[in-house]
Parts: sequence; C-alpha cells; structure tokens
Amino acid sequence: MIEMTIARIAEIVGGELADITAEQAAVTWVTGTVEFDSRAVGPGGLFLALPGARSDGHDFAATAVAAGAVAVLAARPVGVPAIVVSPEPGAADTESGALEFDTDGSGAAVLAALAKLAAAVATELVADGLTIIGVTGSSGKTSTKDLLAAVLSPLGQVIAPPGSFNNELGHPWTVLRATPDTDYLILEMSARRPGNVAALAAIAPPQIAVVLNVGTAHLGEFGSREAIAQTKAELPQAVPASGVVILNVDDTAVAAMADQTAARVVRVSREPGSQVDVWAGPVTLDELARPRFTLHAGDQETEVALAVHGDHQVGNALCAAAVALRCGAGLDQVAAALSGAGPVSKHRMQVSTRSDDVTVINDAYNANPDSMRAALKALAWMARQNPAEAAGEHAGEPAIDLRGKRRSWAVLGEMAELGDDAITEHDAIGRLAVRLDVSRLIVVGTGRTMNAMHHGAVMEGSWGSESTMVDDADAALALLQSELQPGDVVLVKASNSVGLGALAEALVAR
Ligand SMILES: Nc1ncnc2c1ncn2[C@@H]1O[C@H](COP(=O)(O)OP(=O)(O)OP(=O)(O)O)[C@@H](O)[C@H]1O
Ligand SMILES: [Mg+2]
Repeated sequence: MIEMTIARIAEIVGGELADITAEQAAVTWVTGTVEFDSRAVGPGGLFLALPGARSDGHDFAATAVAAGAVAVLAARPVGVPAIVVSPEPGAADTESGALEFDTDGSGAAVLAALAKLAAAVATELVADGLTIIGVTGSSGKTSTKDLLAAVLSPLGQVIAPPGSFNNELGHPWTVLRATPDTDYLILEMSARRPGNVAALAAIAPPQIAVVLNVGTAHLGEFGSREAIAQTKAELPQAVPASGVVILNVDDTAVAAMADQTAARVVRVSREPGSQVDVWAGPVTLDELARPRFTLHAGDQETEVALAVHGDHQVGNALCAAAVALRCGAGLDQVAAALSGAGPVSKHRMQVSTRSDDVTVINDAYNANPDSMRAALKALAWMARQNPAEAAGEHAGEPAIDLRGKRRSWAVLGEMAELGDDAITEHDAIGRLAVRLDVSRLIVVGTGRTMNAMHHGAVMEGSWGSESTMVDDADAALALLQSELQPGDVVLVKASNSVGLGALAEALVAR
C-alpha cells in the first residue's frame, strides 16, 4: 500500500466520511495494510467490512479499530471512523466466488471500492517503476506464480499472492500488498465467466502477461472451450504495446492469441521452432518425476533440474524463465532459481516418501481433466521406478538390479464444475488409469460421476479389485491402511471440495 490519507482514499473510492470530520480525514494516514480479517489488522491499517458465512465484517469494525485500524471501508456507518460506499440496489455479488454471502449488495459495494483503490495504487506504483506480471490459464497458475516468485526474487522485491488468492477479493488485496519498495507484483488471474480476466487486468494492467493453457476447468460455467479461450485472451488484450505477452505455444489455443495483443509476443515451447524464443531440449524425469531439460533462449543454453514434480511443470517453468529473462535475469541465474524452487503452495503435487518407502503424492488441492491426466502420468512414471531410489537411497548405485515396478494407487474423487461433460470426462479418467497400468484405482464417492469413472475403468479392462468404489475419504483411508505395502506409490486427487487433502496427510503421518 502507498501511504494515503483517509480523505484521499474516500475521494478515490467515491465514499462518504462517517464518524470522522473532513479535517481529521485530511490528516489521518493509512500507513499499514488493508485487511478483511480483523485479526490481521495492525497499526495504521484499513479494515474492509465484508459479509462472510457466519458473520458480517461490519460487526468487527470496532475490533479492527481497537487493533490499530485508522478507518473502515464499509457499506454503512459503523460507529468508528469509516469511508462509506453505498450498495447499488440489486447489485449483490453472489457469483464472483469472492462473496458467496452478499445478500444486500454491501459486499459488492465494498469490493468495487477496493478495486478502485487497488487500481489507483497500481497506477502510482507502476509510474514509479513497479512491474506487474499477470498469469492466466486453466491449470498451473499457482504453480507458475510460485516458480515466478523464485526466479524474480534474485532481481528485486517480489509480492505474490499467498496460495491461490486470485479472485475479485484476493486480486486487489494482493495489489495493495505492494509498496514503493516492491519491484515485481505477480498476479494470478482466474476466470469463471467471460469478462473476469479483463476486469482483473483493468485493476492492475500487467506489463508482462503469461498464458499457460486453455483447458476445461470450469467448463460447466463457460459452456465451451472456445469461451474459455476467449476469456483467457482478455489478458493479452489488456497488455499495452510497450509490454510483453508470453505464450505457451504448445497449446494451439494459446498460440492463436499472438494476434490478439498490441504487445511483443514471446513464444515458449517444449520444442525448438522458427518462431519460438524460449524452449526446452528433450525432457527426462527423475525417479520422482521431476523434469530435467536443457533450457534454450536464443543461442544460449543451460541445464535445469526442476524440484517440482510432473512433466506438466515444464511449460510452467519455461513461462517463468521467459518472464525472468525479460526482466533482465541471466540464463544461468534463471536455471539456478528454477532448480532450487520446490513445491510451495500446499496440496499441489506434494510428494512425501515414508520410512517404509511408500510415496504419497498429495495433489488434492483441485482437479480438472487436464490436471488429472498430468498427475496420473506422474504416478505411472514413479511406479516404474525403484522405490529405494525414489526415497533417495542408493543414489548412484547401478540401477539395473534394483529397478523394479512399484504398485501404484490412484485415489480419485470428483472433478467439479464440468457441466454436461462431467460423465464423459470421469469415464475418460477411469479409462486412462487402466491404460497407464495403475495397479489400484480407488474411486471416492458413489454419485453418477464417480460411477462413470469406475465404469470407465471396468470397460477399459480392469478386473477384480483393480477399481474399487468407496463411500468417502474415511473408507478410502481404511482400505489403504489395510492394504498398502512398502514401496507403493499413491496419488490422492480430487476437486478441493471433496476434501481428500486430509486423507493424504493422514497417509503421510500414518
Ligand atoms: N501446466 C499444467 N497442465 C496441467 N496440469 C497442471 C499444470 N500445472 C499445474 N497443474 C496441476 O493442476 C493442479 C492445480 O495447479 P495450480 O494450483 O498451480 O493451478 P491453478 O491454475 O492455480 O488452479 P486454480 O484455478 O484452482 O487457482 C495441480 O494438480 C497441478 O499439479
Ligand atoms: Mg491457483
């Protein structure tokens, strides 16, 4: 945040002062952070009063002021110094995902004010030298954001959202973490419907944009993959001619965005090509499916050994490399930062190996068909390796006698929000598990979609207990605890709402 008076903030957001005079507002400065959780408020802070599931932020205004907030951004007077923005009739925001409990429009009004404040701060900081980097794509935004933070940190101060804080609340909140000392602001831009990415980009227009892929996440809400592509294209469209758009051209829908921007286009790919600027040499995976490749940029090359798991991370890493190179990093510096960047955000391909050589891949944060396929391939790869090697023992010993095949388990729950394609996509995942030779598929849940996954596996040729349906995560855990054997490798994955993260943690903790 930039230090600002209450009066200036009121002017930016178009709010009225309450419980504070104009004279006081002109000399009262917000010097702390902007928070929506009263417990996070510190001295000099600004508190956002938002409606929540169990309580309304307006009821915590006094607590926030007691904790040091100098004012509250609210939809009605709250008895302590406030900037009040009025709800528009009928403007309740129940759709953005940021405010499920906005019944009277007060949340929408406060969020709109927050967006205005973030936009004003971003404009001022950019004029002062801040570089904003926006990342969009159906899968891998958070993974790439974490890699970006790693490659940009050696170049200057980086602000990035914690976890996957990427919606209409998390985005402006993250923008307001930036200060005059910040060099790079990394923003994850998610979309649930057309216009979402454009709206986020309008708050903080990136000078560098990354488009990772166009998949099928939230297909149910968008209706078609074309609509998803158009929404992702809102990011390159928002980048000015002076900026750069980084496109992962291995995805044809992303490659097609090259002519949808005024900015310079930098193309990344797993393969060299006449128009490709940054690419990877042949990719190999180590025993825990961590990719290794030669990173090429122009006529330079260097070796990269990623510390994150799964072949799908190559595209994410290439995009992060292209951003860092654009920001002035040297190729070797980029390679070193990428190679040192382990998993950061929880429950995304978090790999743990127990003392009995059982490896657990906790990828329970979310699931869509693309990330399911990516995770199953990583599981299949790890299962081909020798367990002791995977646990880090015997490194350097000849693998020939040791190399065995590990039993693999895929513990899969529902992929949410797939709309009309839900049955087909779950069926396809069941079939893929069989084609990848996964030893045991545990289908968690008994609804129509999970039935389709189990049925797909059976139709593809699984037999006996190879595919098992269980009621819930507890039943899956009980089954695993009685049947897991040393050396097995287990993937746990579903949409977040299924709650398989705790199952994976219980497996690791044993
Ligand atoms: N490029 C990719 N292609 C396919 N799957 C990917 C890719 N990158 C990451 N994933 C997988 O997708 C899942 C979500 O990853 P991540 O959290 O990075 O994505 P996201 O785009 O931030 O998701 P969200 O929309 O929920 O914020 C994880 O299972 C991860 O392993
Ligand atoms: Mg995310």
